[in-house]
Amino acid sequence: MDYFPYRDGELHAEGTPVSKIAERHGTPCYVYSRGALEASFREYQDALAGCEHLICYAVKANSNLAVLDTLARLGAGFDIVSLGELERVIAAGGDPGKVVFSGVGKKPLEMARALELDIACFNLESAAELEVLAGVAAQLAKTARVSVRVNPDVDANTHPYISTGLKENKFGVTMDEAMAVYQRAAELPFIEVVGVDCHIGSQLTQISPFIDALKRLLALVDDLADQGIVLHHLDLGGGLGVCYRDEQPPSIGDYIAAVRAELGERPLTLVFEPGRSIAANAGLLLTRVEYLKRTPEHNFALVDAAMNDMLRPALYQAWLDIRNARQQASAATECWEVVGPVCETGDFLGKQRELSIEQGDLLALSGAGAYGFTMSSNYNSRPRAAEVMVDGDSVHLVRERETLADIMRGEHRLPD
Ligand code: LLP
Repeated sequence: MDYFPYRDGELHAEGTPVSKIAERHGTPCYVYSRGALEASFREYQDALAGCEHLICYAVKANSNLAVLDTLARLGAGFDIVSLGELERVIAAGGDPGKVVFSGVGKKPLEMARALELDIACFNLESAAELEVLAGVAAQLAKTARVSVRVNPDVDANTHPYISTGLKENKFGVTMDEAMAVYQRAAELPFIEVVGVDCHIGSQLTQISPFIDALKRLLALVDDLADQGIVLHHLDLGGGLGVCYRDEQPPSIGDYIAAVRAELGERPLTLVFEPGRSIAANAGLLLTRVEYLKRTPEHNFALVDAAMNDMLRPALYQAWLDIRNARQQASAATECWEVVGPVCETGDFLGKQRELSIEQGDLLALSGAGAYGFTMSSNYNSRPRAAEVMVDGDSVHLVRERETLADIMRGEHRLPD
């Protein structure tokens, strides 16, 4: 189902024309579809039916409280990487008992809060982290359930900045080192070994790297069992890609079916940490065309969203579809560079786009629901965008646009 269709020549978000949202809430503005979020989460649930599992949505993809709330109500768990993300999950009504804590640099304070909330599992990234966690857990006399993130050294065939499962990356411990970390964990008081995890990268468009990683993890699970360390769950991380342009990622159902087939009859709970495949195509970024500027080289459409609002094109040369909110079936198109007002040549949202654009038009960037708002900044002292969630015919403002006072809060001039 298309949650952002054209109806009567106007782009809609579920039941509401996006032009109405822009009029009411201004631009730039992120628009999320509750229906789309729920549908992708349910695809995971359906594919995992009949198998012990936990779907831990990766909060970093889109951490708006309304997004977390929507997923928590469906029974989601959460994958977090910071105290901030943990507190967001709690504020949104999420269950800490379904939280896994990833990340290479967890601080003792963050561990302590997670222990206090009795989260499901700490995904350890190094032998040193295990020692620190054991110390914090002993001090609080709380047991920390742990998994070791192994780096299976498989090539995810994705952009190098978002590839994480190669041995040269900073993440996890090598397969060789993993056994020693588990043996140490098994002998520490206040540490309970429960699982193994990996995350090999993001925006994967093939199943095979996941299966290669899974095979390596399963071999480790068997070796551990031989040593008397029996694991309860296996966490394959996130990483399933989505279609932004012409990519053909496997469907959620096909991906999960392949994992289940490889797992066979092993009594392991399957954990996943999907972010992008839940949120990316559940969001648009609305932006207004401020000026058209024709130079001998290019036609520039200067819009009011910029790299501070949506960093992915500038950082990864990511391609996001750009549509005019007014559908103009027969209008003549031209080739446009869609750029923002930030003072950097890298500030573009789309290059060489065939569009029919007039000054004042409203444009929509697709695939903006994941790694959009969460990667935004105040660069050029630009307040961050508003966020709304549509739910059928209702539109909810779920984050107010920042004010100038907001962006200067906590700053001080020097004393006289
Ligand atoms: N689990 C761990 C440990 C991760 O590091 C990540 C993402 C995920 C799960 C979720 O992965 P997903 O299902 O979303 O692929 N900013 C980049 C993406 C960075 C992903 C970082 N880790 C982008 O905009 O493409």
